[in-house]
Amino acid sequence: MDGSSGGRLQGKVVLVTGAVQGIGLGIAERMGREGAQVALNVHRDDERAQAARRQVEATGARCELFAADVSQVPQTQQLVADVVARMGGLHVLVNNAGIERNAGVFEITEADYDAVLATNLKAPLFLSQAFARHVQQAGGGGRIVNISSVHEELPFPHFAPYCASKGGLKMVMRTLALELAPLGITVNDVAPGAIRTPINRDLLADHAKVDALLAQIPAGRMGEPEDVAGAVVFLAGDDARYITGTTLFVDGGLLWNYSEQ
Ligand code: BGC
Repeated sequence: MDGSSGGRLQGKVVLVTGAVQGIGLGIAERMGREGAQVALNVHRDDERAQAARRQVEATGARCELFAADVSQVPQTQQLVADVVARMGGLHVLVNNAGIERNAGVFEITEADYDAVLATNLKAPLFLSQAFARHVQQAGGGGRIVNISSVHEELPFPHFAPYCASKGGLKMVMRTLALELAPLGITVNDVAPGAIRTPINRDLLADHAKVDALLAQIPAGRMGEPEDVAGAVVFLAGDDARYITGTTLFVDGGLLWNYSEQ
């Protein structure tokens, strides 16, 4: 399926944040294959960003780059305004941008905490606000999909700010689902488990750690960005019109895994 021949998101304008690599880029490509026009948010408009744009365009979709640091609230407002102006509208917001810092309780710094919370929690809230304002003016209807994590439920030693951000995102999602339902906007989380992306670069380089992680995943493999993208397309599409305020886990069984064997 390419952007010109139909698809589940034909004619929709989709903004994906943090889309230069990993899950964000996978979602953007899949959106393109489903017929959407893709607004690709990147931190910087550099060679890597241009390569990501070409990768999405190769699906046949229209794809434009929007450089913005979403951890800065004024930039979130500008980003939504720019997308609406250049793409002619905005129907689906995918809050994907996310970072993590590996630091135990004795090592966490205030700077780590602030950076993780600003990107993973503040950005989705204020992007949703800007998106909802646009939808209100445009006459209603839209989709917000947040890329959360199994760690919106599951503690993760050495990642306290990350867990705080994802647990917080879950409650922001549930709250906005109620507030925005009258506007015809659904709000949901997709919560990936261990996906093979650059956020896991250190772990992937350590075979012993990868084996220990695989032992925790009932499906017996790490996930791929495409596994997550399929869930996002579903929540962004027509079949999910009555689904709001919920989390769809995409984790090969990781979250609820327990065994005494
Ligand atoms: C984190 C990864 C981690 C995975 C499973 C993700 O949210 O970004 O670092 O490996 O959860 O624990």
